[in-house]
Amino acid sequence: MLDFKIASGRSNVPLANKIADYIGVDLTNVTIKNFSDGEIWVKYEENIRGVDLFIIQSTNPPADNLLELLLLIDAAKRASAKRVTAVIPYFAYARQDRKDQPRVSISAKLIANLITRAGADRVITIDLHSSQIQGFFDIPFDHLYASPVLIRRLFHLDLSNFVVAAPDIGAARTARAYAKRLNLDLILVDKRRPEHNVAEVVNIIGNPDGKNIIMVDDLIDTGTTFVECAEALKKHGALEIYGVCVHPVFSGNAYEKISNSTAITKMFVTDTIPLKQSLEKIEVVSVAELFAEAIIRTHDNRSISSLFEIER
Ligand code: R5P
Repeated sequence: MLDFKIASGRSNVPLANKIADYIGVDLTNVTIKNFSDGEIWVKYEENIRGVDLFIIQSTNPPADNLLELLLLIDAAKRASAKRVTAVIPYFAYARQDRKDQPRVSISAKLIANLITRAGADRVITIDLHSSQIQGFFDIPFDHLYASPVLIRRLFHLDLSNFVVAAPDIGAARTARAYAKRLNLDLILVDKRRPEHNVAEVVNIIGNPDGKNIIMVDDLIDTGTTFVECAEALKKHGALEIYGVCVHPVFSGNAYEKISNSTAITKMFVTDTIPLKQSLEKIEVVSVAELFAEAIIRTHDNRSISSLFEIER
C-alpha cells in the first residue's frame, strides 16, 4: 500500500487543517513563499517519494491560488510522488464552459488542461458550476455534492411552511433535488443578465405568497442574484427567506448587500472558500468531513457514492 499524505496551498488553510484533523494526520510540511515581485516558490520539506499525495487548494481569485496549485502539483511530480490528487474545494473559472458568444475563451477547459498538464493524476472537487466540466478532464474525477451536509442542517428548521426556490434557471436542477429531498414544492425565478454582474428578475414561476423560502444556488459572487431574487420573492408575499449556497465567493460589496437586505433572514454557506468577514446572518456548514472521507476512500480504492446519502 502507498503512503498517504495531505498537503495544502495557502488559499484555504482552515479547511485543510479540518480535513487533516478529521483524518488524524498532520499536513505535509511545505514552504510556500512569494518573491519580492510576487512570483511564487514552493518546496516540500519532507520526502514524498512513492507517496499518494492529496493537495488541497481552492482556486478562487486571485489567480495566484490557481498558479500555486499548479506549482504544488509540479513540485510533487518532480519529487517522485507516486500519485497526485488535486483536491479543489472551489473550482474557479467554471462559469465559462462553452463559447456562448463569438471570440470568447472556454476558461473551464483551459483550467482543466493546466491542471492535467501540471501532472495531476486525479481530481476531487465539489459542486462544479456545471457537471459536464468533468468531461474536460481525461483523468479520474470525483465530483462531490455538499447537499447531504447542507440538507442535514436544513432538517433542523421547522420546514412545515417552506418551499424551495431556484434564483435562476441554471440553479433549477439543484433546487429541484433539494425540494425532493426536503419534500417541498419548488419555485423558479426567471432571471436575466443584461450585462456581467447585473441581474434582473423577469418572472416568478410558482407562488411564494405566505411561504417561507429556501433559496438554493451553487455560488454567490457579487450577491446581486440572491438579493434581487429575495427581494422579488418578498414583493410577491414571501415570508422568511433562507439562502443556501455552496461557494461563498463574495466579491465586491457582497457582504454589505447581504447584510443590508431585509429580505434575507439567514444564509447557510460552506467553507470551500474562507469568509473574509463574519456576519450574524451567515452560518458556515463545513464540508471538511466529506472531503476527508473522499480522500480516505480514494486512497483505499473504496466507493465514495455512499457519501451522497442523507440521514436525518
Ligand atoms: C449563475 O449561473 C450562478 O449560479 C450564480 O447565480 C451567479 O454566478 C451569482 O452571481 P452574483 O452573486 O454575482 O449575482
